[in-house]
Amino acid sequence: MIKVEGLTKRYARHVAVDNISFEIQKGQIVGFLGPNGAGKTTTMRVLTCFMPPSAGSARVAEFDVLEQPMEVKKRIGYLPETPPLYPEMEVAEYLAYVGKLKGIPKASLAKRVDEVADRCSVGDVKAKLISKLSKGYRQRVGLAQAIIHNPDVLILDEPTSGLDPQQIIETRDLIKGLAGDHTIILSTHILPEVEQICEQVIIIARGKLVATDSVANLTSRLRGAESIAVQIAPRNGLSLNEGEVRERLEGISGVGRVIVRDARDGLLNLTVESEQGKHIRPELARAVIEAGWNLNELHSVGLSLEEIFLELTGAPKQDIDAPHATTVGVGDGQ
Ligand SMILES: Nc1ncnc2c1ncn2[C@@H]1O[C@H](COP(=O)(O)OP(=O)(O)O)[C@@H](O)[C@H]1O
Ligand SMILES: [Mg+2]
Repeated sequence: MIKVEGLTKRYARHVAVDNISFEIQKGQIVGFLGPNGAGKTTTMRVLTCFMPPSAGSARVAEFDVLEQPMEVKKRIGYLPETPPLYPEMEVAEYLAYVGKLKGIPKASLAKRVDEVADRCSVGDVKAKLISKLSKGYRQRVGLAQAIIHNPDVLILDEPTSGLDPQQIIETRDLIKGLAGDHTIILSTHILPEVEQICEQVIIIARGKLVATDSVANLTSRLRGAESIAVQIAPRNGLSLNEGEVRERLEGISGVGRVIVRDARDGLLNLTVESEQGKHIRPELARAVIEAGWNLNELHSVGLSLEEIFLELTGAPKQDIDAPHATTVGVGDGQ
């Protein structure tokens, strides 16, 4: 349904999207994942014919975005980061306006407005001014305008950003409900969102494609490796030397990586990752004790999609709250 080949987009000298290629099959729901500034919005703007690519090609339902933009636009519903709403219009009036622009015949327009308003749970505010709506309602009106012409493809740019937790749940459910009828690409910098909604994931960082896989494969890619949270304290009033601790732990057979999560109040919190299939806990405990430090804590935290994501994108470690955090925004959450 969507085929992107060698797509590159430059803004002046800055390369925002750098030679990326991917394919999306009909009916799939795909998470477009990457830290802020990765190039997600830029790619979506090219796919929706808002901007031409600098190089490479993008095709939607066999139509090229440069050669047949009208055909592409007919088949795409787009929800930009900021929905294109007119605050001084009433909801139904706005949806009818968009429907007319998208070529819905006058005779069926009112019925179609009712349908999408119900589908997106904005039926109860049809006569309200858009300026009076909450952010969650506005986002759903944004979704309603994106699906009004029943497009094959839906492109949703950070559809849950800026919503409160309840609105996020409602919007995610709504998107999942739309999945049967449409091919959906949604961008996000929030990992659990991808795990909850998507089947496939395309990960980009700094304009480059770093992974494209099923969510299940991605999660199992590093299965077999173990991640262990360790807290080490000094003994006898001595202080800990971070470099020395790291070196000691990295020297243990089977240890892959040692990450210092924080060093506070003289304590060191670390995450120690094993190599595939290696069991390192006993050796880890022994090494800490033999070095003359106190071992306050040692427990397995598993390897989450978050860690895999950070690994793949090279996003900074401080963007992650804790290895077991359930919701993590990578980047500044603009
Ligand atoms: N209109 C623009 N002019 C110049 N640079 C831009 C413009 N839009 C985006 N960029 C830059 O391109 C890169 C990718 O941005 P964007 O596609 O918005 O990323 P994302 O949506 O993943 O956060 C960023 O470095 C951003 O600063
Ligand atoms: Mg963006």
